[in-house]
Amino acid sequence: MKCNISQDVTAAAELLHNGELVAFATETVYGLGANALNPEAVARIFEVKQRPHFDPLIVHIAAPEQLSEFTTGLSAPAQRLAERFWPGPLTLVLPKRNVIPDLVTSGLDSVAIRIPAHPIARELLQITGLPIAAPSANKFGCLSPTLAQHVVEQLGDEIPMILEGGPCQVGVESTVIQCTEESTILLRPGGIALEEIESCVETVRLARIEDFAETKSQVSPGMLPRHYAPGTRLFLIEKLEQLPSAESIGVLSLYPIEETILSGREFAVQEILSPSGDLKTAAAKLFSALRNLDQSGVECIVALKMPETGLGRTINNRLERAAY
Ligand code: TXA
Ligand code: MG
Repeated sequence: MKCNISQDVTAAAELLHNGELVAFATETVYGLGANALNPEAVARIFEVKQRPHFDPLIVHIAAPEQLSEFTTGLSAPAQRLAERFWPGPLTLVLPKRNVIPDLVTSGLDSVAIRIPAHPIARELLQITGLPIAAPSANKFGCLSPTLAQHVVEQLGDEIPMILEGGPCQVGVESTVIQCTEESTILLRPGGIALEEIESCVETVRLARIEDFAETKSQVSPGMLPRHYAPGTRLFLIEKLEQLPSAESIGVLSLYPIEETILSGREFAVQEILSPSGDLKTAAAKLFSALRNLDQSGVECIVALKMPETGLGRTINNRLERAAY
């Protein structure tokens, strides 16, 4: 299949209405979109991504007015989060209505909903008038795409179009939250820092496997031990003294590493996420940097842990799974 990379939102909308898949830019990562109300189109997402069916999808909508079509309602804390962070990198897991096919939610009685902020995603949602189911536009378990070119590399032969919107500004996936009157659970750290969520709702709890004991379905691939992984073996270390002794090594770090520490090796490459220590900038560069290291031919990749604050926590979460 010839994959067309363009900014033609009308063409993308037509494809979606015809039950086809379209990859599109969002502020977090590129998504692989299908009409969420068309089970055959949704099935095709799982097929192209080679994604297991136990792993539910996020449904993207244009505006809060559409919420009542797809969910039975928001708890008061969910309402506060929605008002504060939508449009943006927040996904809320809400009780679902029957119009949402079971395939989208892997049979769960909840649906994950996000209103994205990227102008091209917003335009697509408005023009189609559809809820769009979209996971990240990569093969299951692999690095997420933050450029149209990344999508081409993994899925270019299998989809008709990529709606191009430049490099993703946030660069890591949305923060996924399940929020009832009683509790707020962080299912996946993401583009909105935990501190920001905590400033809006009381006591946010990190998800535990026991939270999902009653559902047969896997609740969040954010919770799978291995995910977001490059092909090259990745080690996550706390300090430089733990660098392995490999001859060729690719290092991912927030700050530059002194050349002397890397010398004596046959080959060493560095990807520095933000010399000034800005964790938002670091998040935006994360997946591209991992791709570069993966493609550089090094024997192994070594990532130095980020500070556990703000988006550092999200980056560490992705690196832990990449290293598993
Ligand atoms: O930023 C993002 O969220 C991107 C862009 C394209 O919007 N999408 C994305 O989708 O990362 P995906 O499929 O890679 O991750 C969806 C996450 C998973 O952790 C999934 O398990 C969780 O949302 N999820 C979806 N529906 C759920 C539900 N009903 N209950 C709990 N978790 C759910
Ligand atoms: Mg993903």
